[in-house]
Amino acid sequence: MKVVAIANQKGGVGKTTTAVNLSAALAAQQTRVLLIDLDPQGNATSSFGLQGLEGQSLYGALLGDEPVTEKVLPTRLEHLFIIPADIDLAGAEIEIARMDDHLSRLAQALQPLRADQTFDYVLLDCPPSLGILMTNALAAADELLTPIQCEYFALEGLVKIVRLIEQIRASGANRELELGGILMTMFDGRTNLSAQVVADVRAHFGERVYETVIPRTVRLSEAPSFGKCILEYDAHGSGAKAYRALAAEFLQRHAGAVIPNKAEGSRGQT
Ligand SMILES: Nc1ncnc2c1ncn2[C@@H]1O[C@H](COP(=O)(O)OP(=O)(O)OP(=O)(O)O)[C@@H](O)[C@H]1O
Ligand SMILES: [Mg+2]
Repeated sequence: MKVVAIANQKGGVGKTTTAVNLSAALAAQQTRVLLIDLDPQGNATSSFGLQGLEGQSLYGALLGDEPVTEKVLPTRLEHLFIIPADIDLAGAEIEIARMDDHLSRLAQALQPLRADQTFDYVLLDCPPSLGILMTNALAAADELLTPIQCEYFALEGLVKIVRLIEQIRASGANRELELGGILMTMFDGRTNLSAQVVADVRAHFGERVYETVIPRTVRLSEAPSFGKCILEYDAHGSGAKAYRALAAEFLQRHAGAVIPNKAEGSRGQT
């Protein structure tokens, strides 16, 4: 099992859109995926048409009161499961901050899932702020997948992420944390700026940048309001195509680490 934090401290860069649609596209490839909505805003949760699920978020598991396995819900999609966000999660920041081991609450909560290998991948949809929930995600993750909007300050944002990863490693909270991949989002083929930004980011970060680039398309922004992922809402459009390509590339990069759809054989590099 691999835990992948979809994280960027900048807001509105496509974290949730990527968490939802990459999860769905991976599940469509017969990979067993758990999407955890770690953002009290609950955008990933409502993207699947789920709402008002009180008591179902990770909150109880983060506090150590309830097993994480009781929080896992099925979705309409085969192989895709979710732990939704709920209103309690907003309070978790404060409650957890009081605990001694406040950085490792999520890592501990996920331990049973690592032990039983029910899932091939756990994707964490992180909130934008650098609070307790985001820090817990970085402490619990094997790697980061960082979506970056194709806009002028993309490189500055990435430098901050790299520094953040170094801090988490140096703190001892997670010495293994890696910047697994950078995903360029909201690419606008009509502007030179988008192409220039992608070229700059590739020049600096090389192969860590996914070949797949997510285009700006209104379909991707409409889908959540129908409670659907892009594979359900517009299966043949450019958005769905891009997220399917991303899933294929993601699996290729992780080949060897996880064997999808082998009930007994999927050993993550934990
Ligand atoms: N490729 C895209 N094309 C068009 N719109 C997009 C695309 N990706 C995301 N959006 C839209 O941009 C907005 C921000 O995207 P999203 O919610 O995924 O970002 P986020 O990083 O999760 O934001 P936050 O930091 O608030 O959690 C949303 O309205 C979303 O629908
Ligand atoms: Mg979000």
